[in-house]
Amino acid sequence: MLQTHGLVAGSALAVLCSQPAFEPCAWASILPPVGILHLGDNLPYLTRLPEGSVQLVYADPPFGANRDRLGDAGTFGDRWSSPAEYVGWLQPRLAAIRRALADSGTLYLHLDRRSVHHARLLLDDIFGPRNFGNEVIWHYTGGGRGTRAFPHKHDNILVYHKGPGYKFNASEVREPYAPTSGYARSGIRARSGKLYTPHPDGRVMDDVWSIPMINPLSPERTGYPTQKPEELLRRVLLASTDPGDLVLDPFCGSGTTPAVAHKLGRDWLAIDASPVAIETTRARLEALNAEVVLTGIA
Ligand SMILES: C[S@@+](CC[C@H](N)C(=O)[O-])C[C@H]1O[C@@H](n2cnc3c(N)ncnc32)[C@H](O)[C@@H]1O
Repeated sequence: MLQTHGLVAGSALAVLCSQPAFEPCAWASILPPVGILHLGDNLPYLTRLPEGSVQLVYADPPFGANRDRLGDAGTFGDRWSSPAEYVGWLQPRLAAIRRALADSGTLYLHLDRRSVHHARLLLDDIFGPRNFGNEVIWHYTGGGRGTRAFPHKHDNILVYHKGPGYKFNASEVREPYAPTSGYARSGIRARSGKLYTPHPDGRVMDDVWSIPMINPLSPERTGYPTQKPEELLRRVLLASTDPGDLVLDPFCGSGTTPAVAHKLGRDWLAIDASPVAIETTRARLEALNAEVVLTGIA
């Protein structure tokens, strides 16, 4: 169900918070389960979020690929004059994200080979190297295969925690042991004599995730460029949030994060500068019967 707080200006998207455009809508005063969908540049919003208010941030910004991203539904720009300009754009957003995270909170920053090395240094600087948690590799198949190099078939997701008291729900991200695993059959006895036995629910999944890309026939497909699979976000949310926690996606695109957050009973706040992205997300959440409050510029 769509809540409209105020005037709707001209289009189906628009407005709708009685607060000034850049103010973070008072999500805390709106009873869950309501999601906030904000149209506009994320920086002013991020800098005004209450400190420590967010449990998880999944950020999937333009990768610094130096080309526009085109889809059947929508397009967004990804051009920067230099890596330094890209890093300069990312830096204040990541700093604001750190401030908004709860002490138990985690950032997942989704990039690929083109800028992950810059972002790693940036995040070490902002979060501190000791708060680096993982570099998750999302491995996928599909798409073209060049012959001038090994085909590029993975993205990099940098995981940083706000601090040592971070949440990690290992029990939520277990998978079956490999069928050939001797450990799964009989465990392993250490030299000390201690017997290590397999966990009845399987092993905690490692940091390489093989998940297919959204293919043209997938029911998830929205047509928005660079849409990520729900299974990827499902793992992220299960690992680092509990039901009722607040999840923020400052580059929400087609709305994968809010869709998964809604399905898993998390509160969510999603931002995008593109009206097409906001409309795609709104329609996706409406199809899930989620309550959505639209805020931002008309
Ligand atoms: C890689 S896409 C996100 C895709 C998304 N994860 C999904 O599954 O559909 C990046 C998005 O960032 C948005 N974006 C770029 N700059 C922005 C900014 N300054 N503030 C808010 N959104 C921005 C683009 O409009 C684009 O939709």
